[in-house]
Amino acid sequence: MWTGDNLPIMRGMNSASIDLIYLDPPFNSKANYAAPIGSEAAGAEFKDTWTLSDVDAAWLDLIETKHPALNRVIHAALNTSDKSYLIYMAVRLLEMRRLLKDTGSIYLHCDPTMSHYLKLVMDAIFGRKNFRNEIVWCYTGPSNTKRYFPRKHDTLLFFGGASCVFNPDAVRRPYVAEYTPARGLYGQAVAEPSYKTLHQRGTVPPDWWADPFLTNISAWKNERTGYPTQKPIALLQRIIKASSPPDGVVLDPFCGCATACIAAEMEHRQWAGIDISPKAAELIKMRVKREMSLFYDGIHRTDIPERTDIEPLRKYNHADNKKLLYGEQSGNCNGCGDHFLPQHLTVDHIIARSMGGTDHLSNLQLLCGHCNSVKGDRGQDYLLAKLAA
Ligand SMILES: C[S@@+](CC[C@H](N)C(=O)[O-])C[C@H]1O[C@@H](n2cnc3c(N)ncnc32)[C@H](O)[C@@H]1O
Ligand SMILES: [Zn+2]
Repeated sequence: MWTGDNLPIMRGMNSASIDLIYLDPPFNSKANYAAPIGSEAAGAEFKDTWTLSDVDAAWLDLIETKHPALNRVIHAALNTSDKSYLIYMAVRLLEMRRLLKDTGSIYLHCDPTMSHYLKLVMDAIFGRKNFRNEIVWCYTGPSNTKRYFPRKHDTLLFFGGASCVFNPDAVRRPYVAEYTPARGLYGQAVAEPSYKTLHQRGTVPPDWWADPFLTNISAWKNERTGYPTQKPIALLQRIIKASSPPDGVVLDPFCGCATACIAAEMEHRQWAGIDISPKAAELIKMRVKREMSLFYDGIHRTDIPERTDIEPLRKYNHADNKKLLYGEQSGNCNGCGDHFLPQHLTVDHIIARSMGGTDHLSNLQLLCGHCNSVKGDRGQDYLLAKLAA
């Protein structure tokens, strides 16, 4: 379990190391969530409003230069807030694609606010041919809308490659709930369907999930911690059983009160959870104990992991980095664009370290002395805006 921004943490994880990613990110709902005072989750809060200041110019640059299809779909969004949100999500989803094994799957949990845009982003990143399902998770609960139908479903976008793991037998459920005896025109009973043709262990649920144990908040109210946007454990169990191998690794990079981690533990999978709110790490300890009567003393980290599947990083201002960047930038400063001799350029972080920027070469650039002092330890967007002014 990690506490921190998931972007630098994922950047430090090895490629092709994860079997299943479930993410339930903020939805761009224009709301700021907070748990009720007095609930187990009190003190947990997260932001769900977006502006361009949440987006580092380097992310935009990465997308514009290396992912043109993704860039086009992001610019299909109609306003700055939506665009900022999609950029924020896209840079993280790019990392998730790198982390997934060939046999892996990803489930993005979202709601109708942004699901139409997120599906385009997922198509661009994971490939349209790897789209598996758009699952509709229905739920019940009070509503006081007067001008439209109560909004009572979320959407799960499920993508996986041609060889992705899928275990339909692990999630079969009885036919009974769906079956009502057929009646003829005058209400008379007609021939019963032949059960011999039906699978003995039940049916695989379709892509809309309205099972009472999943939809009805009161069915899982004993699980409630008060964490805003908590999901039922049973929902996560179905996803984990269907889409991960028995000894697989599950990652939830926006894990909240760790529902996916608890479900993974119950299904004997290995797991890793990341959340920016320190409350999440506290809640998982409490929940494993309560839901599973287990003593849990899992590892809690706040550091940025270091990839072991690539050569160890050089110190960022190492002469070799400088030489490589000098060639890449043709000897020009990445701020003002003027040409300089190597000794007049310095290695700088594109996304400042204080904003989660890493020492990887992809986050380094050369700046002249003047541009470097204007930028300070702020982001590249600040420097470019200052120079443009
Ligand atoms: C919708 S909630 C997840 C709820 C979770 N599925 C559950 O059942 O409790 C989204 C979570 O994302 C976290 N979050 C937002 N931005 C983040 C980031 N950049 N890195 C890690 N976590 C983040 C928030 O703190 C919040 O807990
Ligand atoms: Zn310069």
